[in-house]
Amino acid sequence: MTQRKLFVTTALPYANGAFHMGHIMEYIQADIWVRHERMCGNIVHFVGADDVHGAPIMIAAQKRGLTPQAFVAEIAAGRRQYLDGFHISHDYWGSTDSPENHALSQEVYRRLKARGLIYTKDVEQFYDTVKGMFLADRFIKGTCPRCGAPDQYGDNCEKCSAVYAPTEVINPYSTLSGSTPEIRSSTHYFFKLSDPQCVEFLRSWTTGKGKDGTPSVQEEVLAKDSEWLGADGHLSDWDISRDAPYFGIEIPDHPGKYFYVWLDAPVGYLAALKAWSEKKGFDFEAFLSDPETEQIHFIGKDIIYFHTLFWPAMLKFSGQPFRTPDHVNAHGFMTVNGEKMSKSRGTGISPLEYLELGMNAEWLRYYLAAKMNSRVEDVDFTKTDFAQRVNSDLIGKYVNIASRAAGFIVKRFEGRVNDAAMKDALVEKIRSRVPEVSAYYEAREFARATRLVMELADLVNEYVDEQKPWELAKNPEKMNELQYVSSVALECFRLLTLCLKPVLPATAERVENFLSIAPLTWASAGVPLSSANPIKPYQHLMQRVDMEKQLNRLIPERAPEPEKAPEPALPGGEAIAPEVTIDDFSKLDMRVAKVLKCEAVEGSTKLLRFTLDVGEGRTRNVFSGIQSAYKPADLEGKLIIMIANLAPRKMRFGVSEGMILSASHVSDKAQGIFVLSPDTGAVPGMRVR
Ligand code: 2FM
Ligand code: ZN
Repeated sequence: MTQRKLFVTTALPYANGAFHMGHIMEYIQADIWVRHERMCGNIVHFVGADDVHGAPIMIAAQKRGLTPQAFVAEIAAGRRQYLDGFHISHDYWGSTDSPENHALSQEVYRRLKARGLIYTKDVEQFYDTVKGMFLADRFIKGTCPRCGAPDQYGDNCEKCSAVYAPTEVINPYSTLSGSTPEIRSSTHYFFKLSDPQCVEFLRSWTTGKGKDGTPSVQEEVLAKDSEWLGADGHLSDWDISRDAPYFGIEIPDHPGKYFYVWLDAPVGYLAALKAWSEKKGFDFEAFLSDPETEQIHFIGKDIIYFHTLFWPAMLKFSGQPFRTPDHVNAHGFMTVNGEKMSKSRGTGISPLEYLELGMNAEWLRYYLAAKMNSRVEDVDFTKTDFAQRVNSDLIGKYVNIASRAAGFIVKRFEGRVNDAAMKDALVEKIRSRVPEVSAYYEAREFARATRLVMELADLVNEYVDEQKPWELAKNPEKMNELQYVSSVALECFRLLTLCLKPVLPATAERVENFLSIAPLTWASAGVPLSSANPIKPYQHLMQRVDMEKQLNRLIPERAPEPEKAPEPALPGGEAIAPEVTIDDFSKLDMRVAKVLKCEAVEGSTKLLRFTLDVGEGRTRNVFSGIQSAYKPADLEGKLIIMIANLAPRKMRFGVSEGMILSASHVSDKAQGIFVLSPDTGAVPGMRVR
């Protein structure tokens, strides 16, 4: 078999805080896969890095009175304890502020520009005159233009879920200085993703395959991508620049303009590979442009857009030695008891606390492996499930085999196995299933891999239960049998260890040590234990997890939430309007009208023009902003309700002589618009009372 050349990455975490369980879960998933590949004898370069640029990190540094460089260096210094603690085996960990990344990001930009895919456009944006900087939407707050809720973010309202432009916000203020921002214009750089060649390329890449012959993106991801790419294939261009002050990489020849953090972040993958190539001593460009090389990214489901649209397009149109990814493997989130982790609600699990409680990193690796597959699914953590998997599977089924068999071999037979046992039917059976386990790892079907291993462990335990070596040990005439049975069990244990090695690398190393064997690879399946190579005394391999001292401290039982007065329900997203009298109501003259004609208004994306018969012996012209919800032809001939005594209103497209009634949620984009019509039998002119 030829040796694969793999370039594997995990998403680059923002350098604004410590790792959380979501990061660790991704690293464990990628690490298990990478270790499996290394055990196949493939060449793997596995890299990660801190994603250090952008306004939020710059501002966090300011708050601490540090330069951004000093701030992110402090974060970087904290990474090792987690990576080592969970046995994550990146070959290299870099930073997007490295010289390699500055150079590569600028190179990618220059090449895109040379291809005519970069253009500039003036953009109006809020500017904080106190801080002297343009404000990203997240640094603007104000009153929701829809429902009037105060203190809402610049782009959406948490109260009524309306989405709007920051410039629509009422009484906007900067969250950085509290001042009222002003609108200023500035030149921005855009990557022309709407270019037909980009769209065409992305259609083909998202539906294509990696060099291993499997789809580049998962089914669920393709569904998302196809939605974004749409039938008409319209992608919006991507604003890739930010104005100074900004912690980032300067755009070549444009002082004061920086790359938006999401441009240089993925280039950071390449920069980390480059730095690693220099350290390790291989040729970066030769490796990257080698047609045999495979580029594989592990990411979370929240950043699919960046990795399966922007990133492949950037790479494709930058040209050699850059290459498009073979695979982008997205995973779901980690939940606890079925709920999203949340610091404020106390439902998060801290990876550092996990280690500090003396919990074995390999328990978590095994637990996650037992629950992960190749789909974009969330992984749920519960204490009982965790305790069950660790104590019953790992200790009860797997470790148990070694502790039952190894003692006899060491104490009674000077550490020597019976060579004939290596060909026992059970050994052959287990050995024959090893390639299946490996194939499951290859396909990132870790849950299937571990399930199969546990099924095999069950077979071995049944064998030991039947053969009862502890009984044989009491009978001096059965020494040969005792050695044989213990040797079968021990060889099976070696094979199971091989199967679990991607998940349990530290345990596998201890096993290799006491069995006196070379590091296990998939090829070792056919190299059994041998009497020529005596084993050493069994070393304890793994503790059970303690519910009281460990799991209950990691995830304390939560006191039931105090009863809160229920929030008043908001029907349709808004409170019922203040009371009116019947006289107020009867001022409105609402009539049944027939739609004689309905057409879209040229030059408006919202309005439809209606010609209505209200039973007056003449027609009325009325505009209504319901174009998003109806095709004009579908409304012709319909009876509707209109306000007939509303003062005529002059609009850009003509005079509107009334108003058509329709129902909608306060945020109409969310749920649609519905025109009111009378029951059958009503005729034009009838009054609504
Ligand atoms: O979402 C995030 O946490 C980003 N820092 C991920 C970047 S991945 C890559 F593009 F660098
Ligand atoms: Zn609102």
